[in-house]
Amino acid sequence: MMKQQSNLLKLTTALTIAAYVITTTYAISSTWGNISNSAQLLHVENVFNASSPGKYVNREIKFPKNGIGNGRIITGIRAFDQVTNGTGGHATIYSGGPGFNNVTIKLQSQYNYGLIFRVEIYGQ
Ligand SMILES: *[C@@H]1O[C@H](CO)[C@@H](O)[C@H](O)[C@H]1NC(C)=O
Ligand SMILES: *[C@@H]1O[C@H](CO)[C@@H](O)[C@H](O)[C@H]1NC(C)=O
Ligand SMILES: *[C@@H]1O[C@H](CO)[C@@H](O)[C@H](O)[C@H]1NC(C)=O
Ligand SMILES: *[C@@H]1O[C@H](CO)[C@@H](O)[C@H](O)[C@H]1NC(C)=O
Repeated sequence: MMKQQSNLLKLTTALTIAAYVITTTYAISSTWGNISNSAQLLHVENVFNASSPGKYVNREIKFPKNGIGNGRIITGIRAFDQVTNGTGGHATIYSGGPGFNNVTIKLQSQYNYGLIFRVEIYGQ
């Protein structure tokens, strides 16, 4: 009896966490790769794009900007969503990333909302 109750509690807890993760999926910060203490910050970009009624705001971040790499391999990337009230966007890597010397990151807002992100790209 006790065991069943405790299993039920575990299941309820798991479902609560799953629901939380799902509802916050579109307002999260993302990390890719490995950002060690010795990693160098290769590029930082602060993104602010106001909301546009009836639209998704899309923004593409490219590193390196001019397509000419400095030979450094990207080891880790962080995209911090600065919006904490549930109206933030999300980030995806479109090409490149950790292990490559270039990356294209796509940021997308939620419908009707804007974007406020800080993107950090680290390398060795
Ligand atoms: C991350 O980098 C550190 C320092 O180079 C290393 O010790 C660690 O094993 C790495 N972790 C992964 C998952 O690559
Ligand atoms: C986002 O803001 C940047 C910088 O102000 C601007 O160049 C760009 O056109 C904007 N993009 C969108 C989709 O609003
Ligand atoms: C949510 O936060 C953003 C950025 O801090 C702000 O611009 C926006 O007005 C807020 N929206 C709501 C519904 O509180
Ligand atoms: C990104 O790097 C990969 C290999 O590291 C290369 O094949 C590719 O052409 C690069 N893309 C751009 C846009 O420079």
